[in-house]
Amino acid sequence: MHKKKRHLKFAMKRYLAPMRGLTEAVYRNTFSQYFKGIHMAISPFISTVNGKISNRHIKDALPQNNQSMPLIPQLLSKDPAGFVCVANKLFDVGYLEINWNLGCPYAMVANKVRGCGLLPYPEMIDQFLDSVLHKISCQLSIKMRLGRFQPDEILSVIPVLNQYPLTMVIIHPRTGIQMYDGSPDLAQFEKCLSLSKLPVIYNGDIQHYTDQANICKRFPSIEGIMIGRGILANPFLAEMIDDPNVHKDWNRLKDFHDELYCQYRNILSGPGHVLGKMKEHWKYLSQGFDDCHRILKRIQRTSSFRQYDSCVVEAFDGYLR
Ligand SMILES: Cc1cc2nc3c(=O)[nH]c(=O)nc-3n(C[C@H](O)[C@H](O)[C@H](O)COP(=O)(O)O)c2cc1C
Repeated sequence: MHKKKRHLKFAMKRYLAPMRGLTEAVYRNTFSQYFKGIHMAISPFISTVNGKISNRHIKDALPQNNQSMPLIPQLLSKDPAGFVCVANKLFDVGYLEINWNLGCPYAMVANKVRGCGLLPYPEMIDQFLDSVLHKISCQLSIKMRLGRFQPDEILSVIPVLNQYPLTMVIIHPRTGIQMYDGSPDLAQFEKCLSLSKLPVIYNGDIQHYTDQANICKRFPSIEGIMIGRGILANPFLAEMIDDPNVHKDWNRLKDFHDELYCQYRNILSGPGHVLGKMKEHWKYLSQGFDDCHRILKRIQRTSSFRQYDSCVVEAFDGYLR
């Protein structure tokens, strides 16, 4: 058993989920400017190849670019040496905790025994943790699915994790091959919770402001909640969870959209990149509009800023005060 101490037990925290291509620094900072209710974010994964980290990822993770929301950078790796090297670089720039991705479901990742591809191999996870934990200066948490192929793979992984002083284990109760289909397997999550000696955070399908309370009622021992798609679709969600009297303020939403768009226009070059980014956001954001399919279809077809701007005006038409 390693000797590092766990964090002090924290009150129920709400985390912004890592979503590659969406919840990078631009989104996190703009979100914090307009909305409340999220206490911390985990960054989308950073691959550690030979201990190298791309300039784009360094910039996104630098503390000076993440002043508005506390951040835990996430690493995707099966290579202990590369992991240790990047983790210690992140510690040197000021991060006290990093997160290890054991959930990424994409075949390109999982076939290389990374992300959820490691879950069928608890002994590899054990070796990895045993070799990295005493070499990294920061604390470590894990984000995982139930398994790659089977929801009970996790039942052999949790006893391994229990041996290490991890700060928390975030569980998204689906398998990798399930991707995002079906519902989170709450019965299996319950088994994980009873097996785990580590703080557990629940993640998956928190979409409505009553969902967090229902999860907490059923699983009173969880130490936090993580929300991804629900926040992207409705950035007011965390505020609504804290105060059910909060209503969607369309003017605030439009201002948020405009600022996000402006920030992407400042850092990305050309309409292709900027609109590509905004279209990804609209896959979620459009869900809050009555005519969501038509709006999304129209936005997806735009290829110039002029077309995009007029689609956005049309989308918000009738909602603004
Ligand atoms: C487009 C997209 C990108 C994602 N990127 C990451 C990632 O980089 N790291 C990670 O651990 N999970 C990633 N996830 C998974 C989410 O963090 C989260 O576990 C999942 O969406 C379930 O939570 P939700 O129902 O609240 O969205 C991603 C999910 C989506 C849809």
